[in-house]
Amino acid sequence: MNKLLEKLKIEIPIIQAGMAGGITSPELVAAVSNAGALGTIGAGYMSPTSLKKSIHTVKELTSKPFAVNLFAVNLEVFSTDINEMQKLLNTYRKELGIEMGKKQVKVKDYLQEKIYLIIKEKVPIVSTAFGVLSSILIDRLKKNNITLIGMATNLEEALLLQDAGYDLIVAQGFEAGGHRGTFNTVKYPRGCEISLHVLVQSLIKNISLPIIAAGGIYAREQIAGLLKQGASGVQLGTRFLVAEEAGTNDSYRRAILKADYGDTVITNAFSGRPARALRNEFIDEMEESGIPILPFPIQNELTKDIRAAGSDFAISEVQSLWAGQGAGGITKEETAREIINSLHQENAAKKVDV
Ligand SMILES: Cc1cc2nc3c(=O)[nH]c(=O)nc-3n(C[C@H](O)[C@H](O)[C@H](O)COP(=O)(O)O)c2cc1C
Repeated sequence: MNKLLEKLKIEIPIIQAGMAGGITSPELVAAVSNAGALGTIGAGYMSPTSLKKSIHTVKELTSKPFAVNLFAVNLEVFSTDINEMQKLLNTYRKELGIEMGKKQVKVKDYLQEKIYLIIKEKVPIVSTAFGVLSSILIDRLKKNNITLIGMATNLEEALLLQDAGYDLIVAQGFEAGGHRGTFNTVKYPRGCEISLHVLVQSLIKNISLPIIAAGGIYAREQIAGLLKQGASGVQLGTRFLVAEEAGTNDSYRRAILKADYGDTVITNAFSGRPARALRNEFIDEMEESGIPILPFPIQNELTKDIRAAGSDFAISEVQSLWAGQGAGGITKEETAREIINSLHQENAAKKVDV
């Protein structure tokens, strides 16, 4: 049997990516898990209170396994050195008719509390991005039999995750939507730029854990090819943005359905970390301004109100329209179950014993 199915106790080797920022509604997570794949709550920016609520609702909607996704970095930050960026961002706020930006920024980190909650709630699977969890947290999760999935964008990161005790590795190719999982963005300012095909092959050859392929996947033929190559499963984000159950706002959905394959770019304009998004006016104007983008998560916190207003007023030009290169192949909204059925080639997983 496919090791991924065995470890995660699921029937179909497809994972709905944890997507922070309200996309992964409990309805989406539960619908994916109920269809036999793995749903994931994107809890990177969530407070413990909202994560608790989300976990409870998922549990009401499914008895199948599901995962919680976290950021393996400390988000805690305080800064007053934000004047120049706020001045630029205030031009957007003025245009949108929202309150001007504050003179200081503060972000809290709840990683420890969320880990405690995950253990208490007996969530069976945790996935992480942006690095490796501390050994203390890994030990705590493992003692409670929680399966750990780590995101890697190169072999070096995959080896670090393997050595730290993670159970499965996601090979996140350059095509992937949203933030690059790359650990060292000083060394790789655009995130590591290895394509999925090359990355999967390098991890299969050098890593003993099951490999999950992610990035630009939207069609069942791609999945069949990746499983044949030796991947144990796949993780998809963008494809689920237009699931009927997802929390994606209407203008974002329309932008994904309208997008062509070449419409995405890598940008740090929204968050201070490299991420793949549909190109829009905000990205172009921030880049043209020449004003230095602040580091993650400061930039992310500063642009939050503008992106939220963009969502409220259906202005896609100021939203972070995270999307992978496969967006061009996504043409309709469907239920999560319909998406999974359209992606899953009957018995494809059973043919490969990896
Ligand atoms: C809207 C969006 C938000 C994302 N947020 C997260 C996140 O919070 N944590 C994470 O590990 N990955 C996140 N990702 C990346 C996914 O884990 C995955 O690597 C990616 O979606 C795969 O590429 P695809 O979007 O082309 O399917 C996000 C992706 C998207 C599209």
